[in-house]
Amino acid sequence: MTETEQAALAVALDRGLIALPETGPILVQGLGAGAPLDALPQARTLLLEDFEPQADRLAQGGWTVQPVPATSDDLRARLQTDHGILPRLILYVPGKQRERALGDLALLAETLAESGILALAVANTGGAARFQSDMNDLFGGVGVLSKHKCRVLWAAKGAEFKTGLAAEWIAGATARTLPLLPQKPPIATAPGLFAWDRIDAGSALLAAHLPASLAGVVADLGCGWGYLSAEILARCPGVTRIDAVEADSRAVAVARQNLPDPRVSVRWADATQPHEAAQWDAVVMNPPFHQGRAAVPDLGKAFIRAAAHGLKPGGKLLLVANRSLPYEADLEAAFKSWRNLIDQDGFKLLEAVR
Ligand SMILES: C[S@@+](CC[C@H](N)C(=O)[O-])C[C@H]1O[C@@H](n2cnc3c(N)ncnc32)[C@H](O)[C@@H]1O
Repeated sequence: MTETEQAALAVALDRGLIALPETGPILVQGLGAGAPLDALPQARTLLLEDFEPQADRLAQGGWTVQPVPATSDDLRARLQTDHGILPRLILYVPGKQRERALGDLALLAETLAESGILALAVANTGGAARFQSDMNDLFGGVGVLSKHKCRVLWAAKGAEFKTGLAAEWIAGATARTLPLLPQKPPIATAPGLFAWDRIDAGSALLAAHLPASLAGVVADLGCGWGYLSAEILARCPGVTRIDAVEADSRAVAVARQNLPDPRVSVRWADATQPHEAAQWDAVVMNPPFHQGRAAVPDLGKAFIRAAAHGLKPGGKLLLVANRSLPYEADLEAAFKSWRNLIDQDGFKLLEAVR
């Protein structure tokens, strides 16, 4: 979601191009706090949000929030129980990964009441023209407003709605297993997750240099589908517990399947938020440096501060990052010592001692 997408959607609502239903639930996905969310009736609006920091912010603002479910059945059941009817309005700002965005669009459309309206806002640079044709294919017609370098697209669910196409898009985004780790069972993964159908070269570099002596309680911050935790379990027999933390609820779901070892717990949480100090013997991470479509090196720096806070004195951080990311000053500030262990193929592997 970007501010321009929010602003474009607000214009469409203000102009009455998209009408708020007077009764019944309103379903919203991908829209941040502020306008136009604030114009919606909080008591009958349900927000779908996979990213924990955002879900937390919205819940603190008094909204009812849940992660995007795997199927529309659960969502329909919840809405029927809570409100007696399905939503006659759904507002959606798609994420950047195409399969996931289309799967979510289809899941929302399946949840929409007959003759209800689904409206989405997307930046021109985020594939607005393509979404217009997708909406047209799914609903058999689409209204368009071009505003703030975005398109707002809306359609009613009528006789033209293509249930088969919706099912196809949902299947395209569904979690599946892929043989990503040699000589290991296939791993659970889903489109849209970081390196969802491959091993990231930076993470592989870190895994290859995990010391077999790594022992005790280890944190895997931003664990994704669980690659680094799986490698720790395979390479470091002295590890007694792994605290894997991940903000994306869909990554959490597959990581839990991939890491059935009783030593591992996978938590849906913001790794940068306050946690118990001095609890870990080691932290491993390939920290995120993107949020949505924006590059955010500050996020990686917040991960470094969180690792330092959670490590015991003498505890070790192993961090892999693109060579260009400016993390050294933060390591210098938060750790007793640090060194660049390896510089290879555009990545650097950094080790720091608390
Ligand atoms: C570069 S990926 C690394 C994934 C995995 N560790 C690997 O090596 O393949 C960074 C991960 O951090 C997650 N992430 C982003 N922001 C987060 C936050 N605030 N708290 C926890 N995890 C976050 C992302 O969803 C993503 O899965």
